[in-house]
Amino acid sequence: MPTASAVEDWSPSSWTQKEVRQLPEYPDEEALDETLDHLATLPPLVTSWEVKRLKKQLALAAHGERFLLQGGDCAEAFKDCTADVITSRLKIMLQMTLVLTYGLNTRVVRVGRFAGQYAKPRSSPTETRHGQTLHSYRGDIINGPAFEPETRRPDPQRLIQAYHTSSATLNLVRALSEGGFADLHHPEYWDLDFMQESPLAEEYHAIVDAIEDSLSFMEAVTDRPADNLQRAPFYTSHEALHLPYEEAMTRTVPHQPGVFNLGTHLPWIGKRTGHPDEAHVEYMRGIVNPLGLKVGPTMTSTRLKRLVRILDPEDEPGRLTLITRLGADEVESRLPMLIDAVRSIGHSVLWCCDPMHGNTEKTDSGFKTRRFDNIMAELNQTLEIHARDGSHLGGVHFELTGENVTECIGGARGLNETDLERAYKSHVDPRLNYEQSLEVAFSIVRKYRQMNGTVRR
Ligand code: PEP
Ligand code: CO
Repeated sequence: MPTASAVEDWSPSSWTQKEVRQLPEYPDEEALDETLDHLATLPPLVTSWEVKRLKKQLALAAHGERFLLQGGDCAEAFKDCTADVITSRLKIMLQMTLVLTYGLNTRVVRVGRFAGQYAKPRSSPTETRHGQTLHSYRGDIINGPAFEPETRRPDPQRLIQAYHTSSATLNLVRALSEGGFADLHHPEYWDLDFMQESPLAEEYHAIVDAIEDSLSFMEAVTDRPADNLQRAPFYTSHEALHLPYEEAMTRTVPHQPGVFNLGTHLPWIGKRTGHPDEAHVEYMRGIVNPLGLKVGPTMTSTRLKRLVRILDPEDEPGRLTLITRLGADEVESRLPMLIDAVRSIGHSVLWCCDPMHGNTEKTDSGFKTRRFDNIMAELNQTLEIHARDGSHLGGVHFELTGENVTECIGGARGLNETDLERAYKSHVDPRLNYEQSLEVAFSIVRKYRQMNGTVRR
């Protein structure tokens, strides 16, 4: 286990000695420093115990004793820190949990892309419209989406707002998941309004009924209520992109060795900042948290081996989750070699599939979208390749929302290109809506069953 002194030549600020990508230039450096000093005095958002508990869960997921469900917005928006948006997202993740737990006979570890998912990597630092050039929108932690000079200017006060908005989000998530809301005895609490007319309603309610029957049976036989089914913890994750913010949330705690990022449970390194010699990898290698690393189609075996050795030198169980996002067209030609690379150095990681980011396209009318069929194709191929190569897919990563948006094409309701304009809300990447998310969960179960006969153990 890394400790403050055990991680060689590392400190929470050693990343500043390396080349850093994707950070904005703040017009007022002094104001930025003052804000960061203030941020560093604010209480942690998560605890070291939770971080270590998640690491243990991820270690189990690596070899099939848990299943990781990671999901949420591409970019959280401050204005979406509302009871409705937060509870709808929890509801859909709980419904997916129910389908996956029942179908795979495996406990599900829920990790939200929320309570901190505010910073976005961009392909260009600026955007030009009608001859006017402004900073690109880089997520609410840096600037705002409206194309106005004042809004697009990076503002350090947004770091504080990101912290407080994360804190408010997490407060509701914790209260709901610890209290009666997440109780498996009452899945009706998770019904969303538009569930009633959904083509999936019947299949879903059949599972709910079956679970209710088994619960009543178990409680009758044991003469005890199944108390441990009344809570469903959610862990948090975000892309650790804004390194000054991450550094300010990096803390030591009494009686625990090592240095923790206490702004989130599971920080991940995005595809654009995963260079082994650069700042983001440098920062992440020194913290105790479990880490995610996005693995895209340009990743080579040599680079992946280096990254795995840097980020997880001791091959610690649960430390590293590799989130592949290769695209439906490339997964067959790339994934086997990546699995082989990790195996060749004797390491074991948690493999997780993000079938969203390799399958983004633009429609003729200019909407960024993803096709449900491509998402499922990448996911199914990923499952097959791991099984074929004697590896294991232990989790999935989605951009999803509990709202009834129209951002991705396809699914049971057959959304098409013309539907996109109806309820396209994302400022960044297109998300699965409530119904498409539930459908993905059913499809995963179907695929597992088709591959393994039945997976009930
Ligand atoms: C994301 O997860 O929103 C993202 C930008 O992904 P990637 O780094 O894989 O492109
Ligand atoms: Co995204």
